[in-house]
Amino acid sequence: MKVAADADRLRREGVDVVDFGAGEPDFPTPDNIKKAAIAAIDANFTKYTPTGGVLELKQAICDRHRVDYGTNYAPGECMVTVGGKHAIFNLMQALIGDGDEVIIPVPYWVTYKDVVNYAGGKCVFVESDEASGFSFTADNIAPHITSRTKVLVINSPNNPSGGVLSREEFERIYHLASKHNVRLITDECYCRFLYDSEPFSIASMPGAKDHVVIAGSFSKTYAMTGWRLGFALAPKPLIDAMMKLQSHTTSNPTSIAQKAGIEALRGPQDSIGVMLAEYRRRRDYVVSRLRAIPGVKIAEPKGAFYAYPNVSAGFCGGITSALQFSEKLLSESHVAVVPGEAFGTTEHVRISYATSMKELERGLDRIERFIRER
Ligand SMILES: Cc1ncc(COP(=O)(O)O)c(C=O)c1O
Repeated sequence: MKVAADADRLRREGVDVVDFGAGEPDFPTPDNIKKAAIAAIDANFTKYTPTGGVLELKQAICDRHRVDYGTNYAPGECMVTVGGKHAIFNLMQALIGDGDEVIIPVPYWVTYKDVVNYAGGKCVFVESDEASGFSFTADNIAPHITSRTKVLVINSPNNPSGGVLSREEFERIYHLASKHNVRLITDECYCRFLYDSEPFSIASMPGAKDHVVIAGSFSKTYAMTGWRLGFALAPKPLIDAMMKLQSHTTSNPTSIAQKAGIEALRGPQDSIGVMLAEYRRRRDYVVSRLRAIPGVKIAEPKGAFYAYPNVSAGFCGGITSALQFSEKLLSESHVAVVPGEAFGTTEHVRISYATSMKELERGLDRIERFIRER
């Protein structure tokens, strides 16, 4: 958000900024979804709804999850939230008390840390292996489990690295978590954006529903970031607890967005494939350009729409951290990227390739020049 604000300020001053900071699709929301929202307004579907969303939407979420991943959730195990972020916030508030520990692999989406801290919990970070695409294993996680561990958060495909956990390793991690009675929160926000493997949900494992909690989002899958629609799938007592919290904070997600969400889930799904094909083309381009810059290292992202190169080769001339690298790259070369410090590492920057090929070319030309000339 800070990078976006700085880039915006420069732009308003007339500077030609290339923005790789945005964590959202550059595609518009598909027409059928927009039309469903307009129809909802015309039909005066503009009043309060039940706190956790209308039954029709909860059923559509359960049905789509069953079709896509082979799970069997019922509407009573589902709640609709004001974006996936809100689902994660509700979950942490409901699950975490003072001093409870939450295991989070690094690099991590920035919000996890803050919502755990806000709930009074303690984050326990697990390092991943950069050389193999920021992978981590059940064996890496096991030594960090203590009697205070309540939750393990897995985000695959990962923001910021684009790393994807193999199905086999995900299953091993699930077995480890359930053995120790640790809740496994799986953030499935980018689940439909996989380049080399099929979409998969750990909740489809037999018996997993008791231990696994799913945080889902419409934002990336249907290019609906501004609509603020997400959901949680979890055991009923947990859904009930989250519902209490939501009923006294936001109440229901916007009624109109809910109708749009039903159309997103029940209508044609081909826009996802169109976006994925375009992201793949861009991913290939970004990786090849970054690998051509002397000293820059990048593991090929296997999902989502982010590249997370190690740019420590550019740490000279007063630059000693990714944060300083990003600040100088923005002020001198007018390219906005997100420094790794936001995600728990110090030698990387996040490049979002959810932008046009033309912008990618322009921005990567500038990044290459910025590093070569140091
Ligand atoms: C990993 C991850 N989870 C969840 C979200 C939440 O998205 P939203 O609140 O827009 O549904 C994001 C958004 O960037 C994300 O990157």
